Amino acid sequence: MAVMAMRRRLRGVVLVLALLLTATAVVPVLLLGVAEDDAGGKVAAAAPFNASRVTAISWRPRIFLYRGFLSDDECDHLVNLGKKKIQRSMVADSKSGASVMSEVRTSSGMFLDKRQDPVVSRIEKRIAAWTFLPEENAENIQILRYEHGQKYEPHFDYFQDKINQAIGGHRYATVLMYLSTVEKGGETVFPNAEGWESQPKDDTFSECARRGLAVKPVKGDAVLFFSLHVDGVPDQLSLHGSCPVIQGEKWSAPKWIRIRSYENPPLSKPKETKGCSDVSAHCAKWAEAGECERNPVYMVGAEGSTPGNCRKSCGVCDS
Ligand SMILES: *[C@@H]1O[C@H](CO)[C@@H](O)[C@H](O)[C@H]1NC(C)=O
Repeated sequence: MAVMAMRRRLRGVVLVLALLLTATAVVPVLLLGVAEDDAGGKVAAAAPFNASRVTAISWRPRIFLYRGFLSDDECDHLVNLGKKKIQRSMVADSKSGASVMSEVRTSSGMFLDKRQDPVVSRIEKRIAAWTFLPEENAENIQILRYEHGQKYEPHFDYFQDKINQAIGGHRYATVLMYLSTVEKGGETVFPNAEGWESQPKDDTFSECARRGLAVKPVKGDAVLFFSLHVDGVPDQLSLHGSCPVIQGEKWSAPKWIRIRSYENPPLSKPKETKGCSDVSAHCAKWAEAGECERNPVYMVGAEGSTPGNCRKSCGVCDS
């Protein structure tokens, strides 16, 4: 009898533990329900993470497609944030006397702030949950607009130079979110993907998309691909481009994820740098205002990059 009672009690404990675990897993999901945007409006969230919406469309390179990663509301929200920034840069340009039209043409992209509002925040969390890669390794979400005829020639997301790797190292993975459905063209194309020739393509694909493994931009879908092999060596098969938009307008939002922390890069050690001085006369004032902590790469310097400008005032010198 005593053994039975103990077993029952044990089962009770297990049940409580299981409930607790479920509850902690459910809470973030509930929090993801509806978030206030800047204007206080409600932006409906996408359905919680659902693995059966993810398809591996290539293993060489590693490319995955997630259908319905963002809700329509979330896409519209990001597009609106992008539009606001375009308008802001137009104002700034007219103040500096630069031609407004030519600036608009060149400023096809803009970066959001990290966690700039609850909607952006939950999307960044969802990206981390999908990729199993820490939020702090990710760069800020970029919003891109491609109008008729605009394209990106095939390129790699990993860097060819050392300077860009100073903070956070190589770009390891890219999550490319589609914020609009493009009527024709605008596909993401991977010309080096193994076996791309056997991808079935009807005549809704553009000419450009016929030269590689192609993904059509569908509002809310997201593509995840890796620019490095699992051993950290750049994957040349990850070459990709954006086909010219033929009909409609393409809005997309790439998120690049580094191999190390992008938000908190390890700071350079004092002995790695020659001398110890302030480059600017404002250093002491900036340090007092907390810039050493807020802006460490500029003030102190990151590992492997040039030394920071205010190492003396930030008190990172040996003596
Ligand atoms: C997950 O997605 C699949 C495919 O869209 C759908 O059939 C299924 O009902 C979803 N599951 C949940 C729990 O939402």
